[in-house]
Amino acid sequence: MNKKGFIFDLDGVIVDTARYHFLAWRKLAETLGISFNEKDNEQLKGVSRVRSLEKILSWGNVNLTRDRFDELLERKNQDYLGYIADMNEDEILPDVPRVLSYLKQNEQPIALGSASKNARVILEEVGLLNVFDAIVDGTNVTKAKPNPEVFLIAAEKLRVAPEKCIVFEDALAGIQAANNAGMTSVGIGNPTILREAMYVFKDFTEIPTEFFSKLISE
Ligand code: BG6
Ligand code: MG
Repeated sequence: MNKKGFIFDLDGVIVDTARYHFLAWRKLAETLGISFNEKDNEQLKGVSRVRSLEKILSWGNVNLTRDRFDELLERKNQDYLGYIADMNEDEILPDVPRVLSYLKQNEQPIALGSASKNARVILEEVGLLNVFDAIVDGTNVTKAKPNPEVFLIAAEKLRVAPEKCIVFEDALAGIQAANNAGMTSVGIGNPTILREAMYVFKDFTEIPTEFFSKLISE
């Protein structure tokens, strides 16, 4: 069997947590008097927690001491953890289980490539922790997407060459990271936002099984 490496982002691809990040960031921005809408949020998708706060502060021209910065990061994460506290498998996005089991049946290596430091907690809650052959998350990387580090480490852990890896991403920064890694990029979401992706689908329900069988045999 021909083996490829299938790498999945977490937030907004496997589970519907992108909206919880949005709600927590919006609450934080509003307490600082900085306006924040869904369009601004697009620029934070896939981006690390620290980099996200830096961006929000720059939009509002706000400067903070290191201690206050760290305090706000912690507050955002506490709010976010509140949102994800009671997650269960109902929050796995449509057809993700179909795709994962098809890849498993076809003996394809599967990895998680996420910027989140909360990735393992979430995977555990939704019952997917043991599905992945490798997990690379925000605790393993130093460079935020669009830097390819997270996906290159995932490929290395899967022992698959980057050019044989396929990345599924809902964030423009993530698509750019996959392209920068020399991998096949598949956008999940809005084709206008994800225009740099090699393929884009609204969600996994739109991806026929033949798409995966073709990727495997290519
Ligand atoms: C990414 C999200 O997956 O993880 C970002 O798209 C988030 O919105 C980033 O900022 C870091 O996540 P966390 O859970 O460590 O704050
Ligand atoms: Mg994402």
